[in-house]
Amino acid sequence: MKKYNQVLEYVTDKLENNNNGHDLAHARRVETNTKRICEHIECQVNIEVCIISSLVHDVIDRKVTNDTEKAKVELYNKLVEIGYPVNFVQTVITICDTISYSKGLKPSTNEAMVVQDADRLDALGLIGAIRTVEYSAAVGRPIYIEGDKSDETAIGHFHSKLYKLKDLMNFEYSKLIAIEKERVLREFEKQYIKEYKW
Ligand code: ADP
Ligand code: NI
Repeated sequence: MKKYNQVLEYVTDKLENNNNGHDLAHARRVETNTKRICEHIECQVNIEVCIISSLVHDVIDRKVTNDTEKAKVELYNKLVEIGYPVNFVQTVITICDTISYSKGLKPSTNEAMVVQDADRLDALGLIGAIRTVEYSAAVGRPIYIEGDKSDETAIGHFHSKLYKLKDLMNFEYSKLIAIEKERVLREFEKQYIKEYKW
């Protein structure tokens, strides 16, 4: 089997039962976003590194696994077993480690910047809104409390994080997509509040 297909099989196994917005469909959309960004930017990137990182990026995230260190070792061994060179695998794991918003790290390679933008684009738009609602429900938090702008509610999370993302995009191309997707998110919030009020 092709190396790519083996990665896909591994990721499918790890994410197919996720119900907090970090499922296989999210990984596949981040992969598609990654390919689009790679096609539209001027700088040189290793596309294979970007694509494999986009697929596996959440496998070692604490929202997907309780033991991120164990997941990291397992992912490392799996990619080596599939046949990727050790330096390729280390690069992929470094990308997964640095792109997370909550860690607040600045990506130091073009590849990490691409995958970070690709992941963040999936936090916006209608899908981004639904993923946020899914996550809040999964951790037992309410969707909306009037006036809340914190991580304690789904709509609050729009303010605490999602509306900041467009200005944090690494590439102009991603920013243009983010601007449109943020508009959808704001529309969702507006409509939600309008219908919520009794
Ligand atoms: P990152 O890895 O970049 O920090 P996260 O994994 O924290 O990103 O978040 C990815 C998505 O998970 C968010 O875009 C959102 O949909 C959901 N999410 C994360 N934290 C929260 C929260 N406190 N409330 C609602 N949704 C959240
Ligand atoms: Ni993600």
